[in-house]
Amino acid sequence: MQPAYEAILTETRERVGLIRFNRPKQLNALNDTMMRELGEALLAFDADDSIGVIVLTGSEKVFAAGADIVGMKDFSFTDVYRSDYFTRGWLTLRQVRKPVIAVVTGYALGGGCEVAMMCDMIIAGENARFGQPEIKLGIIPGAGGTQRLPLAVGKAKAMDLLYTGRTIDAQEADRIGLVSRVVPAAQALDLALEVAAEIASFPLPALMMLKESVNRAYESPLSEGLLFERRMVHALFATEDQKEGMAAFVEKRKPGFRHR
Ligand code: CAA
Repeated sequence: MQPAYEAILTETRERVGLIRFNRPKQLNALNDTMMRELGEALLAFDADDSIGVIVLTGSEKVFAAGADIVGMKDFSFTDVYRSDYFTRGWLTLRQVRKPVIAVVTGYALGGGCEVAMMCDMIIAGENARFGQPEIKLGIIPGAGGTQRLPLAVGKAKAMDLLYTGRTIDAQEADRIGLVSRVVPAAQALDLALEVAAEIASFPLPALMMLKESVNRAYESPLSEGLLFERRMVHALFATEDQKEGMAAFVEKRKPGFRHR
């Protein structure tokens, strides 16, 4: 039984935890309730031993049209500074240690694009539209867009998108490396669930170390990242699943991973 949330929906599909934004009338604008619930649901799946991978999506029409402009338009500097706006709930995505896949169909604008970029990979529907339109509102991205977009697509494309606020389609997002796969919108969630199920069948400790190692590429010099990766691969030789995975290969049989 999944907890009842107001602005998101959650369900499990075997070892995959699925979270959907659910404020259709506001195009899934990310308000405080939704982001608090997102944080709670992420932490619950992250702590659940029966879950290996988390999938985050919206509806087929919209992933999320950004932070809730109606909710924030009258905030003062003190309001946003005191509450450290765009952190509570939002930053929980950074704490999640299991793989997280975003499925973007329709708009992923502003905070929506930033949330998708906080995930480990993005599977896009052909109708996906990405952009950081904050400049048109007189602000700049506040949930990592100025940092993760250049890392994902390079400075030239990032500055173009950030300065103009223009929206790009799924093909352009694929071309510049923002998304990992593009498929017809109606198939995007099913494909992501299939990919997630496959990933979730692999040993969870190895997946978690993979995520930590890749994230090091963004947060430390190459020499530190390489050392971290090497220590992680050494650590995996202490796991049962490494013994099982390699024995299964040699014995020409399917491995039976136990995630330990
Ligand atoms: N916040 C609050 N409400 C929003 C919203 C948002 N970000 N985006 C859409 N909505 C609401 C609209 O106000 C509208 O509500 P009403 O029916 O009550 O009028 C409803 O959703 C439908 O929206 P539209 O009529 O505008 O739908 P459309 O199909 O004509 O346009 C759209 C779709 C292009 C996505 C357009 O809604 C849009 O441009 N939205 C705003 C996008 C944006 O600027 N996002 C960035 C927000 S700032 C941010 O995210 C900061 C950060 O770094 C975290």
